[in-house]
Amino acid sequence: MKRTKIVLLSLLAVLACSPQAGTSVGSCPDVEARVDEILSRMTLAEKIGQMNQVSAGGDVAHYADALRKGQVGSILNEVDPDKINAFQRIAVEESRLGIPLLVGRDVIHGFHTVFPIPLGLAATFDTALVCRGARVAALEASAQGVRWTFSPMLDIARDPRWGRIAEGSGEDPFLGARMAEAMVRGYQGSVPDSTSIAACIKHFVGYGAAEGGRDYNSTFLTERELRNVYSPPFEAAVKAGALTLMTSFNDNDGVPSTGNRFILKDILRDEWGFDGLVVTDWNSMGEMIPHGFGTDRKDVAEKAANAGVDMDMMTFGFLSHLEELVKSGAVKEKTIDSAVRNILRVKMLLGLFEQPYVDPAAAKAVQYAPEHLAAARQSAEESAILLKNNGVLPLREGLRILVTGPLADAPHDQLGTWCFDGEKEHTITPLRALEARYPGQIRFEPGLKYSRQRRDRFDEVTAAARQADVVLAFVGEESILSGEAHSVADLNLKGSQSELLAALKACGKPVVAVVMAGRPLTVERDLAHCDAMLYSFHPGTMGGPALAGLLSGDVNPSGKTPVTFLRTVGQVPLYYNHHMTGRPYNGETLLDDIDLEAGQTSLGNTSYYLDYGAYPLFPFGYGLSYTSFAYSGAALDKETYGTDDTVRVRFTLSNTGSREGTEVVQLYVRDLVGSVTRPVKELKAFRRETLKAGESRTVEISLPVSELAFYGLDMVKKVEPGEFRLWVAGDSASGEPLSFKVQ
Ligand code: NOJ
Repeated sequence: MKRTKIVLLSLLAVLACSPQAGTSVGSCPDVEARVDEILSRMTLAEKIGQMNQVSAGGDVAHYADALRKGQVGSILNEVDPDKINAFQRIAVEESRLGIPLLVGRDVIHGFHTVFPIPLGLAATFDTALVCRGARVAALEASAQGVRWTFSPMLDIARDPRWGRIAEGSGEDPFLGARMAEAMVRGYQGSVPDSTSIAACIKHFVGYGAAEGGRDYNSTFLTERELRNVYSPPFEAAVKAGALTLMTSFNDNDGVPSTGNRFILKDILRDEWGFDGLVVTDWNSMGEMIPHGFGTDRKDVAEKAANAGVDMDMMTFGFLSHLEELVKSGAVKEKTIDSAVRNILRVKMLLGLFEQPYVDPAAAKAVQYAPEHLAAARQSAEESAILLKNNGVLPLREGLRILVTGPLADAPHDQLGTWCFDGEKEHTITPLRALEARYPGQIRFEPGLKYSRQRRDRFDEVTAAARQADVVLAFVGEESILSGEAHSVADLNLKGSQSELLAALKACGKPVVAVVMAGRPLTVERDLAHCDAMLYSFHPGTMGGPALAGLLSGDVNPSGKTPVTFLRTVGQVPLYYNHHMTGRPYNGETLLDDIDLEAGQTSLGNTSYYLDYGAYPLFPFGYGLSYTSFAYSGAALDKETYGTDDTVRVRFTLSNTGSREGTEVVQLYVRDLVGSVTRPVKELKAFRRETLKAGESRTVEISLPVSELAFYGLDMVKKVEPGEFRLWVAGDSASGEPLSFKVQ
C-alpha cells in the first residue's frame, strides 16, 4: 500500500516536470468567484489579518487568540504535522470565516532528503532533474503540512564573497531563468493537488549585487542592468506560474525593495501580469526604518502597502497600523482588497479550503523514500565539477586509499546552508560510502577536524599518506560559512587546509582534492598541491555515495560551473558576460616582467591587473570529464535572419575518449554593436548530450531570434538588427565563432 503511494507520487513528479507544466494563477474563473465571495464577507480587520504572517515556532497556545480573531493569514517555521493541524484547526474551526492558514518554510534544496545546494544544482545544467528535485521536496514538505516554500532564490550573484551565492544559480541570467522555471514547476506540480507547494521567487530584486559582497547591503543597479541581468529569472518564473514572490532586503539606488512601487507594481504587476502574492522578507518592512526610508512602523507600513506588498513577514506593521491608514485615506481599501484577493487565491489554488489538514502517520512514510534518495544522489553526481585530472581519476581498483580532510566525515556540513529539516543521522558521508565501495582498503585520518582548524604539524596523516597508494582529501567549508549573513572577505580555503594539501603532496603520493563548499573558492594554490580536483559544492544527504561513484569511475563527472572561479579575491567582480572596454586586455606585461623605472605608457594601456592579468582560474561553464569531447563542422542554416526567424546551428559532437560521458553543450551569442554596449558573450541555450566512447552525433540547436532581445537605449525590449557571433562549445571561453546577421 505504502509502495503504491510512493510510485504514484513519483509519477506526479515526472508529470510536473514536463516543459509545458505550469499554473496560470488567473486562469481559474471559479477561484476568482469564490475569492470575491469570501472577500465580500470580510471586515477590514479580518482582511488585514490575512496580510499578517507570523513565525509560529511550535507555540500553538501563544497564537490561539490571534488565530481565532482572524489576525493571522500565514505562519512560518512550523513543520510538526500535529502542530500544523492544531494551528489549522483553530483557524478553520474557531475563527469567524474559517479561512485556512498558509504554512510557509524555507525548503531550499530539499526538505528531509537534502539535495545539493542550489549553486550545485545549477552546475548540473539539468532542468528536468532539478525539477524532479523540487518535486521531491514538495512531496516531503506537503506531507507534513508545509504548503509554501520560500524558494527558489533567483538572485544573480557575481561576488563569491556573498554567502548567499550558495542559494542561487550563479552569475548567468539565462541559466538562472531555466533553473527558476524548473524549480517552480517542480514545487507547484499541477496545482491544485495536495502535494503542491507554492513557490516563492526571491529576493526581488538585485539583492545579489550587495556592495562588497556584504549581506543586506545597498545595490546601485541601473534600470537597464536590473532588466537585462537581474530580472530575467524572475520574469521566467512568473511566466512558469510562480504563485508568490518575496521582496529583498536591499535598497537599490536608494529605494528599499519593500517600498519600491516601480519594481512591485510597474514591472511585476503591470508589465509581467503577476497576480500572485507578494510577501516581504523577514521584517524587511520594519528595516525600512534603519534604512532611513521611513520614520516609524506606521510610515513604513503605508509605504509597503502602497508599493504593492500583500503580506508582512514579522514586522506586524500591517496588523498594527493598516486599519488606521485606511481610515485616514493614506491607503485605499481597494489596495487592501487586492492584497487579500492575492492571498486567498493562493490558498484556494493549493486546495487548502478543501483539505487544510494532513495525516501525520502518512507523512512519515514519504520522507527519505528510495526514489527521493536516488534523485538526490543523481543530483549530487551531476553537480560535481571536475576541475583538474592528471590521470589519477578514476581510481584504479585495488589501491590502498587514505581518506582525510575535515569534510570527509562531516554529515552536518555536507548538507550545506539553509537546510532546517535535513538530518545528519540520515546523511551518508564520503568516508562511509568509500568504506562500502572499497571494503578493507580505506584508512581514515582526518588531519583537521573542521575546516577552520589551524595546525602546524600533520605527522599522523602524512605518515598514513606514505603508506597509501592514493590520498583523497575532502576539504572546503563548513556549512555555516556560507548562506545568509555569512559573507567572507577571503576566498581561500580556511584554517590550515591548504597546508594540509601541501603536506600530503610532499609525501609523493597522488593527491585527489574534493572540495565541498558553498561558493567557488580561490583554489589556485591548492591545484598545485593535488593531482585531481573535484568540486562538489555541498552535495546533501547522498553526497557520499555520489562522490564515491565519481571517484571510482562508476559515474563519469559532467557538472559545469555556473560561476566564474577566480584566481584571487581581488578580481571580484569577474564574470564571463561582461561588457567590453574600449581597451580590451591583450595579454600584456605582468608584474615580474616590468622593467625598473619603466615609462608610464610602456605597458600598453589596457584593462587588467598587473599582478593577476584579466582571466579567471576557470571560466563559466567549465568542467572536465573522464572522456573528452570534440566539436566540429558547426554551421548555421542561413547567413541572415529576420526578427521572427529561428537560428539553427548544426555541428558534430564526438566523444573522443574511451568511456561513455555526458557533455553539457553550450551556445553563446554576441551582439556586436547595439544602441548600448552588449556583453562579450551570453549563454542562450544548453543541453546535455550523452555519447558512448568513440560515438559522434549531429546536434542541432534552435535559437529563436527573439531570444536576442534586450533593453537598449530607449529601455524597450527588442532585437536590434545587426551582426552577431555564435559559439557552440563546452565552456564560455572555448569555440570558434560563427557569424550571422539580423535584419
Ligand atoms: C530571511 C531570508 O532572507 C529569506 O530568504 C527567508 O526566506 C526568510 N528569512 C524566512 O526565513
